[in-house]
Amino acid sequence: MPTVVSGIRSTGNLHLGNYFGAVKNFVEMQHHHDTYFFIADLHSLTTHPTPEHLYANVRQVLAEYLACGIDPEKATVFIQSDVPEVAELYLLLNMNAYLGELERTTSFKEKARKHPDNVNAGLLTYPVLMAADIIIHKAHLVPVGKDQEQNLEMGRTFARRFNRMYNVELFPIPRPYVFEGQDMVKIPGLDGSGKMGKSEGNAISLADAPGVIRKKVMKAVTDSGPTIPNQQKPEVIQNLFTLLDVVSTPDVVAHFDLQYNNCSIRYGDLKKQLAEDIIKFNTPIRERIESLLADEAYLSKVAKLGAEKARASASRTLKEVREVIGIKKFY
Ligand code: TYM
Repeated sequence: MPTVVSGIRSTGNLHLGNYFGAVKNFVEMQHHHDTYFFIADLHSLTTHPTPEHLYANVRQVLAEYLACGIDPEKATVFIQSDVPEVAELYLLLNMNAYLGELERTTSFKEKARKHPDNVNAGLLTYPVLMAADIIIHKAHLVPVGKDQEQNLEMGRTFARRFNRMYNVELFPIPRPYVFEGQDMVKIPGLDGSGKMGKSEGNAISLADAPGVIRKKVMKAVTDSGPTIPNQQKPEVIQNLFTLLDVVSTPDVVAHFDLQYNNCSIRYGDLKKQLAEDIIKFNTPIRERIESLLADEAYLSKVAKLGAEKARASASRTLKEVREVIGIKKFY
């Protein structure tokens, strides 16, 4: 059975981009694959959260994972820092990761540009830790959104390089997972930017209350409207249609598409509909998040079970890696 690994950073609430880019696929895959879904709390240290924020965010994301339908009886759900074997593999892989390739990573360059006061080594080696997360369970498939494509490509490089350097077939080369015939998903933000993201401040969270969602959607950037029938939609408008595509029914999308094409569209109407459809989608998830957050005993049971299962798999791989590298006990 193919093995699947994926994770989400614990830097804030899950948003629609996380859901439609990754979690939706996780949930489907847990029924037919050996699945590992984790909360990347070590990755979130690259931005130095306070201890209280770190803990609260991990707890929140755990409740959100479960509220989205990830079933801890089927999938292995765990917290990255509960598996110290990952940190050891990260150290070992760092020996075969080169400064040039790490510096060329788009996400590193972007983060370094945005936060020139905090260009730490963890940020530089972020893709190495991500590779360790994936290959420690010998993953074949990694369900992620389009924004993680390059990081995953580096993970493939590190896995291949390790196999080649030691002349072994220890790691399968992990592939990004998308449903047949589809492209990797990119959910746009509401501010006209390309991507919905936690740090971009343009996200709709799964935990957002209806009033918050309405406010955010009504503020979304638009233009002055189409003037030529059937003209191509500019990016800001296409973004709204992309969101409509994932939360609304096909007849709603067709209705606004027609109105756009005959130049009669009123963006206010589209936004109202979009907000209500997002609310309809979010409400059951938000209610489950709230009740899970109140159930301390269940969350801790899930985290413990996940940690045990993930450690068992990780320590098996690490034992092989140590042997291949030549790390042997003298006692
Ligand atoms: P993160 O936490 O930024 O995002 C988690 C997942 O959500 C997807 N995603 C999106 N998909 C479509 N449109 C969007 N606007 C959007 N925003 C986020 C991401 O592609 C991702 O799948 N480095 C990773 C976490 C990680 C990881 C891993 C993932 C650490 N180790 C190992 C897979 C395997 C990250 O920061 O994702």
